[in-house]
Amino acid sequence: MGDHHHGPAKGITRWLTTTNHKDIGTMYLWFSFAMFLLGGAFAMVIRAELFQPGLQLIEPAFFNQMTTMHGLIMVFGAIMPAFVGLANWMIPLMIGAPDMALPRMNNWSFWILPFAFAILASSFFMEGGAPNFGWTFYAPLSTTYAPPSVTFFIFGVHILGLSSIMGAINIAATVMNMRAPGMTYMKMPLFVWTWFITAYLLIAVMPVLAGAVTMMLMDIHFGTSFFSAAGGGDPVLFQHIFWFFGHPEVYIIILPGFGVVSQVIPTFSRKRLFGYDSMVYATASIAFLSFIVWAHHMYTVGMPVAGELFFMYATMLIAVPTGVKVFNWISTMWRGAMTFETPMLFAIGFVVLFTMGGFTGLMLAIAPADFQYHDSYFVVAHFHYTMVAGAIFSMTCAVYYWLPKWCGRMYNETLGKTQFWVSFVGFNLTFFPQHFVGLAGMPRRIPDYALQFADFNLMSSVGAFIYGASQLLFLYNVVATIVAGEPVEKEQVWEGAEGLEWTVASPAPYHTFTTPPDVK
Ligand code: CU
Repeated sequence: MGDHHHGPAKGITRWLTTTNHKDIGTMYLWFSFAMFLLGGAFAMVIRAELFQPGLQLIEPAFFNQMTTMHGLIMVFGAIMPAFVGLANWMIPLMIGAPDMALPRMNNWSFWILPFAFAILASSFFMEGGAPNFGWTFYAPLSTTYAPPSVTFFIFGVHILGLSSIMGAINIAATVMNMRAPGMTYMKMPLFVWTWFITAYLLIAVMPVLAGAVTMMLMDIHFGTSFFSAAGGGDPVLFQHIFWFFGHPEVYIIILPGFGVVSQVIPTFSRKRLFGYDSMVYATASIAFLSFIVWAHHMYTVGMPVAGELFFMYATMLIAVPTGVKVFNWISTMWRGAMTFETPMLFAIGFVVLFTMGGFTGLMLAIAPADFQYHDSYFVVAHFHYTMVAGAIFSMTCAVYYWLPKWCGRMYNETLGKTQFWVSFVGFNLTFFPQHFVGLAGMPRRIPDYALQFADFNLMSSVGAFIYGASQLLFLYNVVATIVAGEPVEKEQVWEGAEGLEWTVASPAPYHTFTTPPDVK
């Protein structure tokens, strides 16, 4: 044992100064779960207010802060850091690397996150309250009419963007430079591929987001008029810039989830992934198309018909590579020796429900129809099928799949399956009825609604509390596993699972692949 093979430092110093990809992955995962519970608590406040028509529990002004902070925290605090945590843990293990390529930057990109959130959260205690303009922060709501806390919001977004860019550079550098000999690109597991492509999306669009908030800052404090028509600017310009970031952003959120499901379905089908090459090309195609569809969020602002047609057809085109993926997952399961452990349940739940979210996305892409759907609860239903049943189901799936590798102990399968079914029922009860109220014209982001929407909203709220409770079950199961789960005691946790991560001990030692593995 040389000096390079020491174990972790002790106490708080270990976590503050660590450059170890497993430590940093663990911190990302716990941080994102805490944010998930916070963003979820805001969702519970929203659903409690919407439980019945009229204004019951909170002021409309606070309701606006809740919808805004729920979206911001879920996107930037929960989902993105969760997948970066997963990348930290799994990419080195999957490509046979001893660590991430840039371990000191890795520490930095994690530790600036809590500060970004302290800044964002502090806005609740400022005069005028927290940001109240929706997670899309359209100008001039977020400039001319914004509360003073918007300046802190801008600072927070800058730090979050910095963290994401550093994380993405690190992942791209790791994939390009740290693969074990023999681990060619086309041998990489799909999770590595999807994250590699996601990293490029991040590097391309996070600076655009930084540009948008900087222009807001200039408009608010330095007398410019980027987004103010009175000064010669254009508020619609804000929407173009925001969605040039925002649409690729939703694929940033979902592509790593595609990768997870592409690892899990083959394992529990006892078959190789069907159509590996086409999976890689489909992921790259989705990433490319994500840059040329942004104005499908803006049909109602007034656009030339040629523009509407372009963005409509470009958006519909995304269904092709996405369909390739769905058919490949189903073909992988076809005539496989399938079993239905908790990760597989979440993976199948993902495929079914995400596909529904994809279909409603296709409906929203149709420009003339969007005039009815726009800013209604139909949109809310659509993107929660992709963000919750897509991103969060796949993230939960990943935790159950790799938790035994991380901590060397097996979770409680009965509890895991129970959590799946409770969250499956709770999720659908929450969001399926929102399609109906949306089609009937119920607007989103409003704390009150017309009487005819009462029944479906009651169902939504009951479902939301069931889904929320299922997350406490998840937390309990994970903690119980770490503290007192049955030891796994072997490398291979799932019979027939392929990949280098299953060749190291369970729990994975602090240092792995200090000598490169043999890749066949
Ligand atoms: Cu979009």
